[in-house]
Amino acid sequence: LGCFTYDPGFIATSSCKSKITYIDGENGILLYRGYPIEQLAEHCEFTEVAYLLMNGELPNQTELRDFNEEISDRAIIHESLRKFFDGFHYDAHPMSMLVGVVGSLSAFYHSELNIKDSTHRKVCAARLIGKMPTIAAASYRHSVGRPFVYPRIDLSYCENFLNMMFSRSSQNYIDQDHYIDPYLVKALNLLFILHADHEQNASTSTVRLAGSTGANPYACIAAGIAALWGPAHGGANEAVLTMLAQIGSADNVPKFIAKAKDHDDPFRLMGFGHRVYKNFDPRATIIRKTCHDVLARTQKSDPLFDLALALEEQALNDDYFIEKKLYPNVDFYSGIIYKALNIPVDMFTVMFAIARTAGWVAHWLEMMEEPAPPIGRPRQLYIGPARRDFLPKGQRS
Ligand code: CMC
Repeated sequence: LGCFTYDPGFIATSSCKSKITYIDGENGILLYRGYPIEQLAEHCEFTEVAYLLMNGELPNQTELRDFNEEISDRAIIHESLRKFFDGFHYDAHPMSMLVGVVGSLSAFYHSELNIKDSTHRKVCAARLIGKMPTIAAASYRHSVGRPFVYPRIDLSYCENFLNMMFSRSSQNYIDQDHYIDPYLVKALNLLFILHADHEQNASTSTVRLAGSTGANPYACIAAGIAALWGPAHGGANEAVLTMLAQIGSADNVPKFIAKAKDHDDPFRLMGFGHRVYKNFDPRATIIRKTCHDVLARTQKSDPLFDLALALEEQALNDDYFIEKKLYPNVDFYSGIIYKALNIPVDMFTVMFAIARTAGWVAHWLEMMEEPAPPIGRPRQLYIGPARRDFLPKGQRS
């Protein structure tokens, strides 16, 4: 019935050529534009990495200053867009607001957009990176019934986000009287860098597929956000905390490991396993250490962290997980750091989306630079009925 390769999860299909991110799953190597993730995580600010992903080279001082200024200038959202939030139910999931509001940016900027013009495309990319923290923080503020906080141009990307999240009406979260421990800002910056890109994952592939039709970039990124939401992808960081709460105590770990191994039980260890990494996820190695440091710094002893360590140790020594090469992935520990930063659990995937926007726009820009990007149009193996003739209603069994 068909003469095409059947590859339902795109396990053996390269959908594009890309110069952005390199992954060696066997050896746990991740490079952005050739630079090891460990070096970028240690030395860079997030916007520097976003610039690298978009432009192919690290910015010099002037380029970074100009880029940061552009991102800050574009952080403000239109007052009418801000009012969109009033239409959402008070307990709407922040991801549902993010999908809707980012998609609606098309309604504000689409008419002036010429996606064939590379300058226009770069403006769109910077606009999305700039506005994403503002929209994300507004989603949170709406869900807890607090007034919107405007972005500030005197703060760094991560500081500005934290200020918009946590300012009270009477005081800034960050100013000369109230400042946030720079180490915690650095931890957030690190998480954003680690999540910034990961080549053709489900959400990035979705952005490329939508973009291949010539759809506007705001709609494409909204499609990526929708794909990210699921627990097998970006929703895993939220699912890890839900799972740890469900496990409750170290005594219950063996029971849940047994459930994860039982093929008749749909339960999986969230934050474990990866399609590409089969020995270790280099991002998880960095995050695990940062998690220890952040908890020490905040002097928070989190029982969920101790439980995560117990779960990790038992799973890594279990034959099932060893044979199937299932290791903690980036999301196993990221949620615990977010929790230590007071980010609510239902915002975890939103945090991932803020960071991944850099990768999504970089891939969209790369695709749009091709002279004639083909429309993404996979085929299928048809397994339905063979040709048959129509029967009037009265003759159907
Ligand atoms: N717990 C228990 N068993 C697992 C798990 C797990 N977390 N992950 C995979 N397996 C088993 C699976 O049951 C299958 O067994 P069998 O071969 O006997 O049928 C085998 O390992 C291979 O699994 P798969 O689903 O075919 O592997 P995949 O490469 O298609 O899936 C994955 C990768 C990440 C979707 C999967 O490992 C998973 O569901 N993990 C939990 C969710 C998660 O943590 N997702 C975040 C991924 S990293 C962040 C991101 O990039 O989005």
